[in-house]
Amino acid sequence: MSKASACPAPTKPNLNWHLMHHSEAEHDLRHLIVDISRACKYISYSIQTTEAGLAGTKNEFGEDQLALDVLADKEIREFLCESGLVCCYISEEQPDIVELNPDGEYSVVFDPLDGSSLVDANFAIGSIFGIYKGGDVIGATPREQVAALYVLYGPRTLLVYSVGDGKGVHEFILNDVGEFVLLRDYLGIGDVAKNYSPGNLRAITTNDGYKKAVDTWLGEEKTLRYSGCMVADIHHILSKGQGVFTNVGGGADSKYPDGKLRHVFECGPFAFLAEEAGGAATDGTTAILDKKITAVDQRTPLIIGSKNDVESVSSLVA
Ligand code: AHG
Ligand code: MN
Ligand code: MN
Repeated sequence: MSKASACPAPTKPNLNWHLMHHSEAEHDLRHLIVDISRACKYISYSIQTTEAGLAGTKNEFGEDQLALDVLADKEIREFLCESGLVCCYISEEQPDIVELNPDGEYSVVFDPLDGSSLVDANFAIGSIFGIYKGGDVIGATPREQVAALYVLYGPRTLLVYSVGDGKGVHEFILNDVGEFVLLRDYLGIGDVAKNYSPGNLRAITTNDGYKKAVDTWLGEEKTLRYSGCMVADIHHILSKGQGVFTNVGGGADSKYPDGKLRHVFECGPFAFLAEEAGGAATDGTTAILDKKITAVDQRTPLIIGSKNDVESVSSLVA
């Protein structure tokens, strides 16, 4: 005889419940993701309040303001320390790998605040995270991530995560009592893009392939959706279920020969989420998930989103 469970599924699944019952994440990974989400609640609060002056200004008590990305880095560090689960991390705000608990079983890579220069314009900004088992991120490939997530601080604060392995990509909203509750499950990316999002567009003056790609988009009358924050711009793709985002280089003598974005903490996590959602992510020749991480500040071209469009842009820029 089967027993009725005393704990039916909640009407509004929260992040912790979802990690446990849907994704069946192992205990420590679940705790780590929840701790990261807690840090992001503080970041969200910092962005919305007077704590969030602009760098170089004074707060209401006459103290120097920390730049928001430095503040976000500090907030994340505190929660990673508290978790006790992290042996080391790589942050955009730190020049080197930072060692934490030698017994911690995970490494975390993150961009604490992506698009931080947009905050005074009140555009959406975000935080990006990738999680690896063990301490050897340099020499690994992003396919070895065991989870990736981002938080988008816009009119709403949203969190999107995946633990890979076909468990899907899921979106949560921060509610009024400070809980991330499920908004949409199984975000997917279709094969054909109607929207395009061309980063490092300055490169078209020296990269003919990129210029051809942009001309093709214009000819096809695709719709431009570009904010200047990759978290917002790639979330647009996951949210609408289609789109293509690019940030490619302009050649050896250009400002960004390999594009502007960092392999380890910007492109790697998004490639993990995009592939899990049915899309693709490449540098033009190699899947981002299979591209070896050689340095903390390594840059890589990125073409990400709807498969057919990722392929056609790659054939032009490769
Ligand atoms: P960050 O604020 O962490 O330095 O990153 C900003 C990045 C990324 O979010 C965005 O896609 C890109 O810079 C924008 O570059 P362009 O304005 O040159 O396209
Ligand atoms: Mn960034
Ligand atoms: Mn940043």
